[in-house]
Amino acid sequence: MIQLHNVYKTYQRGSLSVPVLRNVSVDIKKGEFVAIMGPSGSGKSTLLNILGCLDTADAGSYTLGNNIIQGASEDNLAAIRNRWLGFIFQSFNLIPRIDAKHNVELPMVYAGVLPSVRQKRALAALNIVGLADRAKHIPAHLSGGQQQRVAIARAIVNDPEIIIADEPTGALDSQASHEIMRLFQQLQASGKTIVMVTHEDEIAAFAQRIIGVRDGEISDHQDERVQK
Ligand SMILES: Nc1ncnc2c1ncn2[C@@H]1O[C@H](COP(=O)(O)OP(=O)(O)O)[C@@H](O)[C@H]1O
Ligand SMILES: [Mg+2]
Repeated sequence: MIQLHNVYKTYQRGSLSVPVLRNVSVDIKKGEFVAIMGPSGSGKSTLLNILGCLDTADAGSYTLGNNIIQGASEDNLAAIRNRWLGFIFQSFNLIPRIDAKHNVELPMVYAGVLPSVRQKRALAALNIVGLADRAKHIPAHLSGGQQQRVAIARAIVNDPEIIIADEPTGALDSQASHEIMRLFQQLQASGKTIVMVTHEDEIAAFAQRIIGVRDGEISDHQDERVQK
């Protein structure tokens, strides 16, 4: 599903070139749950953003499903993000003034889905994450774990193939973190492909496979980990 080969990425900081990814190759099959691990500043988010078509590589090739990403236009990338990808971030990124259901409806507003269909699908997604009874609550009236579950409902509401998650438990206590990981495992069981960045061993242990990143290069592969 994901084939990223020999990718390089360098950021410019003023007149300084900062190499961030060097000759990175990653293959991820449909239905896998993969954790990307490595020290702070090693390039995990940069790699994840490239995989999520939020950023582009300077060199190398990237194919997602049947789409050639390298060299695609901004419009094409936006369409591919909409069709293939759902995003989850450490800080939830919910809109504070609107309730859970309306937050979950947002990606469908952008996709031009009719309001009646939007409502039905938003409630179905909230049901999957176990929050049907919190649909009318604004984010401030939900716990951190519940807010992240709303964000997951929002990420899956357009039925993407792949879920991209950057430190999804970084702001949560361990009980809420484990609930989120069990939800990820449930999504994997339903056929989703999940690519998650974390720096916590305990969280990575919920994934099937770990891809290590160190100083912008792939370090160690620990294949076929036993799932919790
Ligand atoms: N937009 C940017 N411009 C300049 N440097 C950046 C940018 N994004 C990330 N970096 C640098 O690239 C390196 C890797 O960053 P990042 O991918 O965020 O690492 P990680 O997620 O593993 O902590 C860091 O040194 C960071 O400062
Ligand atoms: Mg990061």
